Amino acid sequence: MHENKGNVYSLYKCRVLRVYDLTDDVKLFLFRFEDPDIAEKWTFIPGQFVQLSLPGYGEVPISICSSPMRRGFFELCIKKAGRVTSKIFELKPGDFVGVRGPYGNGFPMQEFEGNDMLLIACGIGMAPLRSVFMYALDNRWKFGNITVINSAKYGKNLLFKKELEAMRDVAEAENIRIIQTVTRDPDWPGRIGRAQEHIRYANTRPDKSYVCLCGPPQAYHDIFTKLIEHGYNPKRIYVTLERRMKCGVGKCGHCIAGTSTFLKYICIDGPVFGYYDIISTPGLI
Ligand SMILES: Cc1cc2nc3c(=O)[nH]c(=O)nc-3n(C[C@H](O)[C@H](O)[C@H](O)COP(=O)(O)OP(=O)(O)OC[C@H]3O[C@@H](n4cnc5c(N)ncnc54)[C@H](O)[C@@H]3O)c2cc1C
Ligand code: FES
Repeated sequence: MHENKGNVYSLYKCRVLRVYDLTDDVKLFLFRFEDPDIAEKWTFIPGQFVQLSLPGYGEVPISICSSPMRRGFFELCIKKAGRVTSKIFELKPGDFVGVRGPYGNGFPMQEFEGNDMLLIACGIGMAPLRSVFMYALDNRWKFGNITVINSAKYGKNLLFKKELEAMRDVAEAENIRIIQTVTRDPDWPGRIGRAQEHIRYANTRPDKSYVCLCGPPQAYHDIFTKLIEHGYNPKRIYVTLERRMKCGVGKCGHCIAGTSTFLKYICIDGPVFGYYDIISTPGLI
């Protein structure tokens, strides 16, 4: 995997190749490194993030949502939230951005090998989990059964809805189950209810599974409870967290959680944390 040897702040110039509308306020951007040397060497672990910068506007941390197996290119799925992301929304193919990273720990993909994987995404949480899923598809033989539960309030907010829907039937034959559910949409023809209500339909064997979870932290406790009720091992539950960040490399202290004697930096100790880290670190969620 990529090592930030030398300057951890190295900024790489990247060109926007494609922009897709995923929902009303989320776009998918495909980038390519300008420097062919970097394009060849740069890689990451699913769950890691980059700092994306626009000169004159600022920088934002964004999870990488593509598979690390696709060298030279990477994708970011970005929700219009405020000042910098609104400006990113104006980017067109051919424009340039600056990218630092990859940063953070990522999911322990090697530990997952030989096991089933249950991926639970709420809203924009599908972004980092798509990277895990794409990596698992690119390395299908390394993993057992896989279920993706993709949830949102309304059908129109389900990220990668069409992509996941398109692969659903073929995926079943490969022991991959795709469940898309919404909580508040009377017009949605598919499954209704929160993500945790669909854990029972997963094809993953609780005693042989790892769980990756990403969504709003306030949903985590209910999902943990349901997972444990269904027999999933808390030691094998991983979540990814978001915090306001500045440096992304453990220097500025912006992303710290915990107590004065027990600190966690979301940018370097995370953004992926295990269940026991979450419940034992005050303020982590
Ligand atoms: C590790 C990590 C991975 C992330 N991955 C993604 C991703 O894949 N896609 C994506 O769209 N966004 C992601 N985010 C969130 C993204 O970084 C923020 O939405 C962005 O920084 C907002 O910047 P802005 O200048 O547009 O908004 P601002 O003008 O700074 O703020 C607008 C609103 O967004 C809120 N906000 C700002 N920063 C954050 C944050 N870090 N987390 C939650 N709310 C925030 C503010 O409180 C405010 O309400 C990630 C954040 C982290 C820390
Ligand atoms: S963002 Fe600076 S220490 Fe984490």
